[in-house]
Amino acid sequence: MKSGAPGGRILVVGGYGAVGSTVTSQLKEWFPGQVVPGGRDGARARRQGGQRVDVGDLAGFRQVLDELGDVLVVVLCVEPPEAAVARTCLTRGIHVVDVGASRRLLDAVAEWHEPAVDAGATAVLSVGVAPGLTNLLARRAHEAVGGADRLDLTVLLGAGERHGADAVRWTVAALAEPVTARPKRIAVPGYGRRTVHPFPFSDQYTLRRTLGVPEATTRLCLDSRPLTAALFALRRTGLLGGAGRPGLQRALTGSFSRVHFGGDGFAVRADARRGDHRAACALTGRAQSRVSGLVAAYVTRELLTASVPAGVHHIEQLPTLADLPERLAAHGVTVRHLAG
Ligand SMILES: NC(=O)c1ccc[n+]([C@@H]2O[C@H](COP(=O)([O-])OP(=O)(O)OC[C@H]3O[C@@H](n4cnc5c(N)ncnc54)[C@H](OP(=O)(O)O)[C@@H]3O)[C@@H](O)[C@H]2O)c1
Repeated sequence: MKSGAPGGRILVVGGYGAVGSTVTSQLKEWFPGQVVPGGRDGARARRQGGQRVDVGDLAGFRQVLDELGDVLVVVLCVEPPEAAVARTCLTRGIHVVDVGASRRLLDAVAEWHEPAVDAGATAVLSVGVAPGLTNLLARRAHEAVGGADRLDLTVLLGAGERHGADAVRWTVAALAEPVTARPKRIAVPGYGRRTVHPFPFSDQYTLRRTLGVPEATTRLCLDSRPLTAALFALRRTGLLGGAGRPGLQRALTGSFSRVHFGGDGFAVRADARRGDHRAACALTGRAQSRVSGLVAAYVTRELLTASVPAGVHHIEQLPTLADLPERLAAHGVTVRHLAG
């Protein structure tokens, strides 16, 4: 693949959102004049040197690619309704970096590995904090035990951070999904012992395949104990599930976007077990939307300047990105080695 910094543009879809604004600003610093932030609000996009783009309109999206003509990478900082957006890019030889966390969409893009190889394009999936940094830590813990037979991932999010609307919508929809795993008590670095609740982040499904681990579960809590308890008590009532509950989901999405109890810190932890052998790694930081955006920016830079194989890969499958947690130290991310 290409080396150096090739000419051509980087389209950041959702490029002025909570995650996307960091992607846009970091990439503008590294690739001045090459970054095009996009979203459905054309005026807002243009104010930042970008343009209108809507991933809900596939024909319109193709037209944007045609008009720009020299797009090298599309960074998806909003979840499109279907995988066709990523497929459109890959079949045209355009790289994709996807911060999405929905298993259904990531699995659908992963099916396009061979066509992407044929087109010489690379997609990097599981980019962000969770999925993303969780996948990288899980790989380390898995290797430390010589191949895990079980992985437990823990994510703590700051309830005081202003999470973007699309991320809140995703989280509330995920709360309505059925879960079978049980909550667990675990020490979260910097936050003490917490009760963490199974949550359908895509990493747990991806890692079973990419690392060949038979069992993996991701659990979530917020920094605020009362809010965590209230949220998961609401889930247990079952009121959020079923087709008849979009009104309740909308109301919850609205209150999450307005109410902020807690800080903006986050922590993630990966525990691997092989028989009696255990290993754990963790990291902490502030502002998970910003750090997710930084992960996406670093991955994009890697695609443009290093040798990354064509095809569809999850972040933990690319050895060149294995030290990304340490590279984020400059942005306040601290990697913590735990006893396991
Ligand atoms: N992997 C991770 O760790 C991680 C972490 C955080 C978030 N995420 C994911 O990242 C995504 C973005 O989250 P966020 O917090 O940045 O949300 P956000 O602040 O709501 O940003 C979404 C952006 O996308 C734009 N947008 C919405 N619909 C669009 C469409 N159909 N076509 C083009 N642009 C569209 C929005 O602007 P307009 O409304 O003006 O179009 C907005 O700028 C979510 O899917 C979330 O689940 C992943």
